[in-house]
Amino acid sequence: MMKQYVMEPGADAIRLVDATETEVGVKDVKVELKAASLNYRDILMRKRAPEAIVPFSDGAGVVVEVGAEVEDFKVGDRVLGLFFPNWIDGEITREIHGVARGGGDVDGMLSEFVVGHEQSFVAVPEHLDFEEASTLPCAGLTAWHALFEHARPAKKGDTILIQGTGGVSIFALQLAVAFGLKTIVLSSSSEKLERVQEIGATHTINYLETPDWDKEVWRITEKRGVDLVVEVGGAGTLERSMKAVKYHGVISLIGVLTGTQAEVNPFPVVGKSLQVFGIYVGSKEMHHRFHAALEKHAIKPVVDKVFAFEAAEEAYTHQKSGKHFGNVVVRGL
Ligand SMILES: NC(=O)c1ccc[n+]([C@@H]2O[C@H](COP(=O)([O-])OP(=O)(O)OC[C@H]3O[C@@H](n4cnc5c(N)ncnc54)[C@H](OP(=O)(O)O)[C@@H]3O)[C@@H](O)[C@H]2O)c1
Repeated sequence: MMKQYVMEPGADAIRLVDATETEVGVKDVKVELKAASLNYRDILMRKRAPEAIVPFSDGAGVVVEVGAEVEDFKVGDRVLGLFFPNWIDGEITREIHGVARGGGDVDGMLSEFVVGHEQSFVAVPEHLDFEEASTLPCAGLTAWHALFEHARPAKKGDTILIQGTGGVSIFALQLAVAFGLKTIVLSSSSEKLERVQEIGATHTINYLETPDWDKEVWRITEKRGVDLVVEVGGAGTLERSMKAVKYHGVISLIGVLTGTQAEVNPFPVVGKSLQVFGIYVGSKEMHHRFHAALEKHAIKPVVDKVFAFEAAEEAYTHQKSGKHFGNVVVRGL
């Protein structure tokens, strides 16, 4: 038997249970979880889980058993689970989208052991510990994808707008600094804005004190606009992002922190010839390029707070509070 969390449909709670260990198939690896990290999605999933499943899309651990035909990993390897276990390369498809850890019908990582096909794991970058590595599958890879894995990747000298200081946004900032991009970071907290300056943010705006932050972005960029927006706000921020971005600029549309419903005038997409890319985490091949960049630039993910396995519920409360800066992590058993 092993310890495992489950979330049940409509329950909005997680339960720690004793579960039967999964058998290891010939192409499977068995991973002992060392750390799992929380994302905003995990909060949404608690209410939406269609059936009882294990929560948390993201986790890292050590391989403790391999199937007879496993080629890529051996016992003792440090690995992390892919958010989309079947997205290896190429474009996302309906089939790939339908299989995501900790949502849909696929168990997540908040379990003493996780068993899965070897293709659904990727090696942990050498310079990261398990807690840092656990933040890569969703928050990290999404930020990487938003900046560099679409048809109009950011390039040195570009100015990008980053909304907030959560998991995705702090990764975007760290990558932007490493790649020589200028940044404008929005936050509701002046204290958090001081911290982003320490990381290397070029400009900061408190979006509570300056609700029409698009005008401030326009002023900072001398009426040119930013090259790219890391859009995590959704319905409540999209219209301002369209105003803050330059003509023929890019909006990487990622999140819905302010919800999905609002009256949004789409005309600026036409009038300014914008490119709006929908970003949905990323593939295993993207992970490889992302990890290479993390290693080259010695980037270490920002871990806000680490909770004990038994205190996973407190980790949710902390993430929900919005007090965190970067990523919230739960240690393995
Ligand atoms: N499409 C994808 O593949 C993908 C992947 C990961 C995440 N997401 C989505 O992206 C969003 C962020 O996820 P996350 O896990 O990084 O969230 P998170 O860690 O919970 O980040 C929350 C932070 O967002 C900021 N925020 C909230 N409202 C804002 C607003 N109106 N304007 C600017 N910033 C605001 C706040 O920053 P301050 O405290 O600094 O104000 C808050 O602390 C979520 O909607 C999530 O579902 C999508």
